Amino acid sequence: MNSLGPTLLAIDDEPGILALVERFARTLQFNVVCHDGASGVLAEIDELRPDVVLVDLQMPEINGLEVLRAIRDVDPECAVVLMTAHASVDTAIEAVKLGALDYLTKPLDFDRLRGLLTTVLKGIERREALLEIDADVARRFEFHGTIGRSAAMQDLFDSIRRLAPHVRTLLITGETGTGKELVARAFQQLGPRRQGRFLTVNCSAVVDALFESELFGHQRGAFTGATETKVGLFEHADGGTLFLDEVGELPLSVQPKLLRAVEYGDVQRVGSLETRHVDVRVIAATSRDLRAEGAAGRFRSDLYFRLNVLEIHLPPLRDRREDIPLLTAAFVRENAARLQRPLTGVTTAAERALQESQWPGNIRELRNVLERACLLSEARILGEREVRQAMRIGSSAAGALEHASAATEPPTVGDSLSSAQRGQIDRVLRQARGNKTEAARLLGISRRSLYRWLDRLGHAEPKASQPGH
Ligand SMILES: Nc1ncnc2c1ncn2[C@@H]1O[C@H](COP(=O)(O)OP(=O)(O)OP(=O)(O)O)[C@@H](O)[C@H]1O
Ligand SMILES: [Mg+2]
Repeated sequence: MNSLGPTLLAIDDEPGILALVERFARTLQFNVVCHDGASGVLAEIDELRPDVVLVDLQMPEINGLEVLRAIRDVDPECAVVLMTAHASVDTAIEAVKLGALDYLTKPLDFDRLRGLLTTVLKGIERREALLEIDADVARRFEFHGTIGRSAAMQDLFDSIRRLAPHVRTLLITGETGTGKELVARAFQQLGPRRQGRFLTVNCSAVVDALFESELFGHQRGAFTGATETKVGLFEHADGGTLFLDEVGELPLSVQPKLLRAVEYGDVQRVGSLETRHVDVRVIAATSRDLRAEGAAGRFRSDLYFRLNVLEIHLPPLRDRREDIPLLTAAFVRENAARLQRPLTGVTTAAERALQESQWPGNIRELRNVLERACLLSEARILGEREVRQAMRIGSSAAGALEHASAATEPPTVGDSLSSAQRGQIDRVLRQARGNKTEAARLLGISRRSLYRWLDRLGHAEPKASQPGH
């Protein structure tokens, strides 16, 4: 449908007009869909996502202004042109006030129609060109996978370039999703150890009791369950870089040993008296305020000061909104390639929605929202609707689609889901190759919610014959 070119929907009870409009719009490369009345059209608009609708003002059942209002509700960005045999200035003004692009009198003036359709086409082309430009700028301003053209990010790239060859210890701070890990990797790539290993420890994921052995290793028999001697991450990373992610979660008990390892390169396996020397560059990252953690007794200040020899702070996305269009373009392009869909950009209204959001989850959240919006969208250009829907899904862990359909527990099975939503679910399932866990993740809902929705859609529950799904 939409993916092949712009789509025009014509609605008129006179078949002659429909035929004329159809022939004419085809010459301008529009896909044309015709309807001889307004009933059933709104559901179709939801599905078809036309770029422009031509609608007759006077039809037997519903009049054109009502259709216009309804279209604006469903898809505020769709261009609507009204046609009438009885021109009246009042209805024309009313129509334009309601958001119509323009008003044509019958018999149709094809020059004016061409003018209007060309405006629509130009608008689409401009948006696509903008994305193209932003994606190119994003590529040019990319710094080892990190995109940013804001002054804050440019300064940061500059610091990394200058410092990376010299720094041994580094603390990267910033809210969740701001790109701390990307920056850690950039440091590694630009430093003298790019050939060495880059090992990551996620400090929030290690069980307290195993921390010491994880980092420093243990001797066989050092504790119950230590059946083999184990080499710790510090020794593994010798000559390379150890990335301590979420270092604020590190148990207090391990901190003195870590301080010694960072300061002198001395490590000791659990259960061994022997001290080994390693040459490891330590990059730590945290979304917590370690100074405050220190004051509260949850983090040793001496370790904090040692890690903090150099601190790189990543500003939250809401403080560098000028990066949003670039990131958007890059992420849409990435998804288009991955999904093999001709997605080319976002509409102006969608861009505004993205600009105005607070992004508590920062770039990760933006990336996820765009991934979902790309999955939800049928059109070439992501609209405000898909973007807002994708944002809601992200913010309501409890149940995205519930929210999207504005009904928590619809009384009638199946009815509450629009065909567009059925389409979305089917599309996401296809994208996830039928894997329900993956589909639920993409939709931002729990597996159980997904099953509930599949149930409503009349999809068969997966039986034991489909293990792993
Ligand atoms: N400036 C950027 N340009 C492109 N992608 C980015 C940028 N910043 C972050 N990302 C992407 O956002 C996601 C989160 O980044 P990253 O894992 O580095 O964040 P983080 O600060 O480590 O988050 P957390 O504190 O939650 O671990 C990743 O997919 C990363 O590729
Ligand atoms: Mg991280």
